[in-house]
Amino acid sequence: MDAVKYDLDGDVAVVTIQNPPVNAASHAVRAGLVEAVQRAEVEAKAALIIGDGRTFIAGADIREFGKPPKDPWLPEVCNRIEACKIPVVAALHGTALGGGLEVALAAHYRVAVPDAKLGLPEVTLGILPGAGGTQRLPRLTGAEAALEMITTGRPVSAAEALEIGILDAVQDGTPRQIGLDMAREAIAKGPRPTGDLPAPEAVDFDAWHAKALARGKGQIAPATAVRAVQAASELPFTDGLARERELFGDLMASPQREGLIHAFFAERAVAKLPELEGVAPRDLAEIGVVGGGTMGAGIAAACLLAGLKVVLVDRDADAADKAKARVASMLDSAAKRGKLLPERRSEIDSGGFRAADTYDALDASDLVIEAVFEDMDVKREVFATLDKVCKEGAVLATNTSYLDINAIAGATGRPSDVIGLHFFSPAHIMKLLEVVVADATAPDVVVTGFALAKRLRKIAVRAGVCDGFIGNRILAHYRMAIDNMVLDGADPYQVDAALEAFGMAMGPYAVSDLAGLDIGWATRKRKAATRDPRERVPGFADTLCEMGRFGQKTGRGYYLYPDGARRGEPDPEVQQILADERAQQGLTPRSFTDDEIQRRFMAAMVNEAARVVGDGIARRPLDVDVTMLSGYGFPRWRGGPMKWADMTGLDLVLADLKRFAKDDPWFWQPAPLLQKLVDEGRTFEDLNKEAQP
Ligand code: 3HC
Ligand code: NAI
Repeated sequence: MDAVKYDLDGDVAVVTIQNPPVNAASHAVRAGLVEAVQRAEVEAKAALIIGDGRTFIAGADIREFGKPPKDPWLPEVCNRIEACKIPVVAALHGTALGGGLEVALAAHYRVAVPDAKLGLPEVTLGILPGAGGTQRLPRLTGAEAALEMITTGRPVSAAEALEIGILDAVQDGTPRQIGLDMAREAIAKGPRPTGDLPAPEAVDFDAWHAKALARGKGQIAPATAVRAVQAASELPFTDGLARERELFGDLMASPQREGLIHAFFAERAVAKLPELEGVAPRDLAEIGVVGGGTMGAGIAAACLLAGLKVVLVDRDADAADKAKARVASMLDSAAKRGKLLPERRSEIDSGGFRAADTYDALDASDLVIEAVFEDMDVKREVFATLDKVCKEGAVLATNTSYLDINAIAGATGRPSDVIGLHFFSPAHIMKLLEVVVADATAPDVVVTGFALAKRLRKIAVRAGVCDGFIGNRILAHYRMAIDNMVLDGADPYQVDAALEAFGMAMGPYAVSDLAGLDIGWATRKRKAATRDPRERVPGFADTLCEMGRFGQKTGRGYYLYPDGARRGEPDPEVQQILADERAQQGLTPRSFTDDEIQRRFMAAMVNEAARVVGDGIARRPLDVDVTMLSGYGFPRWRGGPMKWADMTGLDLVLADLKRFAKDDPWFWQPAPLLQKLVDEGRTFEDLNKEAQP
C-alpha cells in the first residue's frame, strides 16, 4: 500500500494518506504529499487532502525524532502545499494533531466532521509546532487563541475550531464527501495562502511567557513556544518561519524532549503483554467494592464514571450510608467538571449503583475490589467470605498498599482468581493502576486487570508481589533517604523546595501531610519487629503523630494549615522537635545544598528501582518510569527516574551511591543490577529494548 494514494474525482485530485494506525507524517507520507500536490497542479483544478482509516494525520512520526532528518521535511511539505497554484482543501476527521494540523493549516480551506479534534500537542513532547504552526495558526485565530492551544497542547473540538477561525465549515459526512463539496466551491475562489494573511496583533507576550514558565514547572517548551508565536506578530512570514525552525531545533536537541518522548512510548509499552497475547479477559459488567472509605468510594466512583454497574459493601448500614454519600459527592464534583452527563447520573441513581451492608449483594459481581482496613487478619476474613458468596469465575482483587497478596489469596479456595489492583488516591482521578500478579494468579485474570484499567482510562503497570510493589517500595526507600538527611540537619522545608525545584509535583513532606501521617505511622509499627538492626530510625515522624499532628486533616503535620488552608506554612515547633531529636542522638547538624538533596533523593530512588527491576517486581525499567510519572508526581519532562539515570550516566549515580555509603553502608549499598550495568557499559534503556516484544 502506498503511503499516499492519488486519484481524480472529476476536477478534483483526492490525496489520501494511508499510514496506519494514525497516519503519522513519516518520510514516505511527506514525499508522497509533495509528489501528489505537484501532480494535482498539472491534472486538476483543486486538491483535497484526507486521511484513510480512523483519523487525519495525527502528527509527525515521533519514531523518527532524534534520527537524522530525511528530505523533504514537514515544513517544506507545508510550504509546498501552501504555494500550490490550485486551491487545496483539507477535510479532517479523528485527531488532526501536531504536524497533521500544520498540513491542514497550510491548505487553503479546511472542513471537519463534528467529532474531529484539532490540536498542537507538541509541547507535551518537549518541542513546539515546527512546520509553520506557530506562524499560521495565529494568523487564523489571533495570538491569544493560538497561544492557548500551543502552550497547553490541549486539542479543541471541531465546533470550537470553527468559532476561533481554524475551520471554514463543520459538516456531517465522510471526509471525502464533505471535502469534495468544499473543493468544488474552492475552484471558483482560487488558492488562499494562510501565510498571506496579516500578522496577528501583538499581545502581552512577556506575560504569556511568564505564565507558561510557571505552569511548566521546569518544562521549557511552552515558554519557548510563546516566543515563536511572538515572532509571527513581529516578523514577516518567512522570517517567522525561520525563527520557529530555530527554536524548534533548540528544543529538539534538549534532554526534556528526550524525556517526554520516552514517557510517551513507555506509557504505551506498559500495556503490552506479549506473553499473554491471545488470552481473552473475563467479562466486566458489574463491579463489587468492599469497604467504602477513601479508596473504596473513589474506586466505585471511577467505575461508575466509566459506565460500569457497581455494588459497594461496607460493615454495617451506617458505614454503607456514609460510603454512599462519599460516592455521591465525588459524582457531584465530576458532574461539575463536565465528566458526568445527566443521563448517566440518572442511570446510576436508578439501580446503577447500590450500597449494601451484606456480602450476599456481591453474588452477581464479575470482579470484586476489596478496600478495607490495611490489616492482614481483616483482609483474610473478607476474602474467605468473598470465596463463599462470589460466583464462579469472579475476579477477587485487593487494593492493599503493602500486604502479601499470596497470603490474602490463601484465604480462599480459588487463589488463581485473586490479584492485586492497587489504585492511587483519589482513585477516580489518579491515572495509575498497579496490577499486582501473585504466584497463582491466572493469565486471564491479569488480562482482565489490564482491561479494567483501559475501561477506566487508567495506565496499568504490571507488578510482582513484595512489600509495597513497585511504587510504594521505591517511595519507602527515598523517604528513608530524605528522613535521614533531615535527621542529619537538613530542613524539611528546604528539602521540599529543593525537590519541587527538581520538578516533583509536590515536596515529599507536603505529600505526607496531604495523605495523612497516620498511614506511615501504622506501617512503621507493623514493620518495627522485622526492622534490620543496621537501619537508622528517625523518630520525628512518630513524635508528630503522637502529638496528633496527622497532616492537613488535623490542621497540622510537617506544616501548619490555619483555617483549612491547602498550602501549608512552615512551623517553628517542627524545627524544634527536630533540633531536640538531633541533640538527643548526639548529632551535630550539618547543612545540605539543594544539589546534594536532589542527588541523594535520586540516588536512593534509582538504587531501589534497580533492585525492583533486578528482583523482577517490575518487568522493565520503563515500568518503573511510568509508575513514578503517573502515581508519584515525578516530572514527566525528565522521563522517569530510570530515564533520568540513563541521561545522567549510571556511572555517576553509582559513584554518588558509593560516596554516600561511606557514612551509611547498609542503606546506600549499590543494587547489583546497577553495578552490573555500569560494569558492562550498558543502560536501563538497553534492558527496555531487550525486553520489547
Ligand atoms: N508518530 C508515531 N507513532 C505514533 C504517533 C506519532 N505521531 N501517534 C501515535 N503513534 C502510535 C502509537 O505509538 C501506537 O503505537 P503502538 O500501537 O505500536 O503502541 C499507535 O500509534 C496507536 O496510538 P495510541 O495507542 O496512542 O492510540 P489512541 O487511539 O489511543 O490515540 C492519538 C491516538 C490521539 C493520535 C495518540 O496516539 C496521540 O496523541 N499521538 C501523538 C500525537 C502527537 O503528539 N502529534 C504531534 C507529533 S509532533 C509533531 O507533529 C511535530 C511537528 O510540529 C513538526
Ligand atoms: P478507610 O479507613 O478510609 O476505609 C476502609 C473502609 O473499609 C471503611 O469504610 C470501613 O468501614 C470498611 N471496612 C472495614 N472492615 C470491613 C469489612 N470487614 N467489611 C466491609 N467493610 C469493611 O481506608 P482507605 O484509606 O480507603 O484504605 C483502604 C485500603 O486501600 C487499605 O488496604 C489501604 O492500604 C489501601 N490504599 C489506601 C490508599 C490511600 O491513599 N488511602 C492508597 C492505595 C491503597
